[in-house]
Amino acid sequence: MTAVTARAHTNIALVKYWGKADTDLIIPQTSSLSLTLDQFYTDTTVAFDATLTTDTVTLDDTRLSTTASQKVHRFLDLVRQRSGETRFASVTSTNHVPTAAGLASSASAFAALAGAASRAAGLDLSRADLSRLARRGSGSATRSIFGGFVEWQAGHDDQTSVAVPFQEHVDWPIAMVALLLDPHHKKISSRQGMQSSVTTSPYYPAWKQVVAADLAAIKPAILAQDFTATGEILEANAMRMHALTLSANPPYSYFNGDTLTAMQTVRHLREAGVASYYTLDAGPNLKVFCQTPDLPAVTTQLAAQFGANRVVVAHPGPGIQFL
Ligand code: DP6
Repeated sequence: MTAVTARAHTNIALVKYWGKADTDLIIPQTSSLSLTLDQFYTDTTVAFDATLTTDTVTLDDTRLSTTASQKVHRFLDLVRQRSGETRFASVTSTNHVPTAAGLASSASAFAALAGAASRAAGLDLSRADLSRLARRGSGSATRSIFGGFVEWQAGHDDQTSVAVPFQEHVDWPIAMVALLLDPHHKKISSRQGMQSSVTTSPYYPAWKQVVAADLAAIKPAILAQDFTATGEILEANAMRMHALTLSANPPYSYFNGDTLTAMQTVRHLREAGVASYYTLDAGPNLKVFCQTPDLPAVTTQLAAQFGANRVVVAHPGPGIQFL
C-alpha cells in the first residue's frame, strides 16, 4: 500500500463557468478562464488498503459520513475503473485557508484528490489527463491542475473538455484580496444553482454570448497586462452570472447585505483613484482584484469596514504538486 499526497490550490474564475451541457461527465456549456491563487489550497493523501471494507474520508480531522462523502466514493470508483485497482481507499484531506472561514473549495479538493488517488492507484497521468479526471469531481477543479491563468476549454466530450494553461507564470504585480463575509455553507450549491439557471433563466442564451465575448476580450487584456480592461471584464462577467440567479425560477441570490455594501466600497475606492474590481462565486464573499501598489489602500479600507480578520491577500499560485 503506497500513500500519495498531492497539493492543489483554489482558483477564482474571471470569466465564469455557470452551467453544464452534460451533468454526468461535467461538460460545461461554455469555456471559462481563471486565476489559481497561492493562499488557499488542499492537501490530500490517498492510500488503497486491502484491509478496508469501505472508502474512508477524513476532512480536517473529522471522519465524514457515507452520505457526506458520496461524491468522493463515486470519484474513487472512476479511478478504480481506470486503473484496475480493486481495494478501498483511505482519503485524508486538509484545507489550508488562513482563517477558518468559507473558502474551502471543491476545486482544490477534487484537483488534489485526482492527483493523489490516480497515483496511489498506479496511474501516471499527464496534467491534461489529471485535468480531465478532476473535472469529473467538480467542474472548477479541472482548472486547479494548472497555475496562473488557466482556460477550461468547454469541448464536447470527456477528451476535449479540459483545462489548458493560458499563462502559467504570471509576471504581473496583481493581487486578489479575499473578503470573507459569511463562513456558512451555501444553501443552494453551485451544482443546483447553475442547473436551475440553465433550465429556467430566459437570459441563459445571452450568457453564452457574454462568455464568448468576455473570453475573446480578456485574453489579450491579460497578455497586455491591461489592468483596467481585465478588471472591467471580470467584474461585469461576475455580475452577469449573478443575474442568472435573479432571473431563474424560482429566483435566488448568493448576495447578502454585506456583499452589496462591499461592492459599493470597491466602487468608492475606484472613484477615489484606487483601481480595484470585484468578482464573486456562488456565495457572498468578494474577491477584489487590484495591483500590488494599491494593496495597502484596498486592505486598509476593507479591514476598517469589515474587520482585519476577514481580509486575506492572495497572489497568483502554482499548479498541482506531489508532496
Ligand atoms: C461560480 O465547479 O463548484 O465558482 O461542477 O457542479 O462541482 P460543479 O460546480 P463548481 O462550480 C463553480 C462555479 C463558480 C464559477 C467558476 O468557478 O467558474
